[in-house]
Amino acid sequence: MPAPQIAVHQLRAGMVGLGMIFEETYRPFFEQAHTQGVYDPAFGLVRVPLCAVASRTGLRAEAYKRAAGERISPFVSCKEPDALAGLLDAGVDFVCVASPDDRHFEAALRALRAGKHVLIEKPSVLSLEELDALEAAAHQNGVLAKVVYHKLLDPDHKKLRTLVAEGELRHVNTGYCTLLEPKSISCGQFAEWIAGRNPGTYVAVHYIKLIDFTFGGRLKSVSCTGQRGLVGAADGPTWDSTQLRLVYGYADGREAAFDIHTSWVTPDNFPGYVDQEVQFRFDNGVWNAHSRKRGVECTVEGRTPQSRKININNHYNGAFLEPWGERSQRGYGLEVLERFVREVARVEYGGAAGERPQRLLAARQLSYNDVSADRQTVAAVQAMEAILARHAAGTPNCVVEVDHRLGGLVLLTPGSSAAEVLYAGRVCAEALPG
Ligand SMILES: NC(=O)c1ccc[n+]([C@@H]2O[C@H](COP(=O)([O-])OP(=O)(O)OC[C@H]3O[C@@H](n4cnc5c(N)ncnc54)[C@H](O)[C@@H]3O)[C@@H](O)[C@H]2O)c1
Repeated sequence: MPAPQIAVHQLRAGMVGLGMIFEETYRPFFEQAHTQGVYDPAFGLVRVPLCAVASRTGLRAEAYKRAAGERISPFVSCKEPDALAGLLDAGVDFVCVASPDDRHFEAALRALRAGKHVLIEKPSVLSLEELDALEAAAHQNGVLAKVVYHKLLDPDHKKLRTLVAEGELRHVNTGYCTLLEPKSISCGQFAEWIAGRNPGTYVAVHYIKLIDFTFGGRLKSVSCTGQRGLVGAADGPTWDSTQLRLVYGYADGREAAFDIHTSWVTPDNFPGYVDQEVQFRFDNGVWNAHSRKRGVECTVEGRTPQSRKININNHYNGAFLEPWGERSQRGYGLEVLERFVREVARVEYGGAAGERPQRLLAARQLSYNDVSADRQTVAAVQAMEAILARHAAGTPNCVVEVDHRLGGLVLLTPGSSAAEVLYAGRVCAEALPG
């Protein structure tokens, strides 16, 4: 019997930003896809060459090209000024945006307007106006605009959501989450762009999305405070740590409150790379999870906890010697990128050309990563940034109300009747009953 014919296609990738997250997840994904491609009976074999990269100076791109050799396809390195124009001219089919978060918007919008599918690192963008513009550009150009929230693919979080979806855990009441990053992030890795920024936008956003995606409901209000004095001046706009509170309402008229504490000033000799803990309390149960206590503690003389951490997260992204002898790098940090490529491949090659609009619509309905489902997360980030900016300017403890009678995001100042409309449109199309 003749061997069945397998369709072979190509999706050429463009990468904006070659920093830490590129090194941790995109690089191993592209190297894997370079040798194996991505296969599904629905679309056949799709080769995924990294075709072009855009970075500020081009130095990391050149160093990577030299180090990777044949592990990666030859790619064009585009640098400033206007690295993005070079990348878009290189004939890419999709663009991954992993530049600092206040630089996502312009790159993502230009790529969408050029008809490229786009995948953006979290947080997608910093305001609802920007999110609206991305969504409109994706629609006008018939492409996908998606965001990476890899924690939704963590097996522990999938289990939490499964128990909630199946009704075994009933009605969330409260939750707290904490994620503490090492000082090396704020004082080393991000030193170039840290001024005026806060760890909430960078890391609380993981939990904002987890809460929003897992429990649903409507975001009602946002409050936030924080501490300064280590990364920047004690009265300046750069934050060491933040404490964010979100209140959600649900269709049955009940509410839940969630506190998310983050920092990026944990000592670098901390036993784990980060400290992450959550508790969610339900009508009939409690979910407690601690990422450093998943079970592994490994001490190596002269190495831990500096060059190697004592507590290792082998689920996110680990380098392994597989039982069958191969070296691999795998985990949910890479899986989330492969999922996006599969979604694009399904849209482009998963059936008759005339049915592409239906496939595009189906991909847009995936609320775990589509920008259209990122509204409440971006609303929380925009509100938090506005509250912290007010705090730094001398007015702490402001609150943002969501879908208030004056607008979608309205900032209220304690002791004042003044209200500032941060976003005029509605955050959620439908109001809660009652
Ligand atoms: N999913 C996660 O858990 C996770 C983890 C880390 C970072 N991130 C996200 O990834 C993004 C990048 O973070 P990182 O840790 O890699 O930061 P980083 O500072 O290590 O790297 C940023 C890179 O972007 C480049 N860059 C800066 N301005 C640019 C521009 N205008 N055009 C092109 N490139 C530009 C820099 O030169 C650098 O190579 C952020 O949005 C961050 O929130 C996500």
